[in-house]
Amino acid sequence: MKDVLTLRVNGDQVEVGVPTHYTLLETLRYVLGLTGSKQGCDKGDCGACTVLLDGEAHLSCIMPVYEALGREITTVEGLADGPYPHPLQDAFDLTGAAQCGFCTPGILCSAHGLLAENRSPSRLEIQQALSGNLCRCTGYTKIFEAVEVAAESLRSGKDPRDIVAERYEVALPARSMQPLEESHA
Ligand code: FES
Ligand code: FES
Repeated sequence: MKDVLTLRVNGDQVEVGVPTHYTLLETLRYVLGLTGSKQGCDKGDCGACTVLLDGEAHLSCIMPVYEALGREITTVEGLADGPYPHPLQDAFDLTGAAQCGFCTPGILCSAHGLLAENRSPSRLEIQQALSGNLCRCTGYTKIFEAVEVAAESLRSGKDPRDIVAERYEVALPARSMQPLEESHA
């Protein structure tokens, strides 16, 4: 049995026929085709399914889709500013914070929720905000550093590339993440 629901997803209003028992994660992945949010444990333990609801991080695998009605849902696919990656995405790329990348969409959403509230988080505050996001590749130090780079970029308006170059005293090669439209052209 399906219901027709109207959802706000990544800035668009969409009408979808959804099996009545579906979670928000199942709706995003299997009805809307937004597979960035990952189905890891599917029971609220790993954080891979984290999305933003009205800017706050939530686990979508344990949320009935009905709880998202009337709220602005943002998935990892909606973090970029048009064709340009979000500073968090740039920072993760530049610092090598993603290994296999399975946990990365959820971590990006949790970090986005943190930085929406606090653009000068301490290392401890970053660790606490990401404490529900498990990384099997265990690259936590790089992940925390990437969030610090993104926070500095959002505070100062500086390009994450310049921040990384100064912080690690490295000369960076040409940008590897092109504006998304160009990279997909
Ligand atoms: S898939 Fe949702 S917490 Fe693991
Ligand atoms: S980068 Fe592999 S699980 Fe986190």
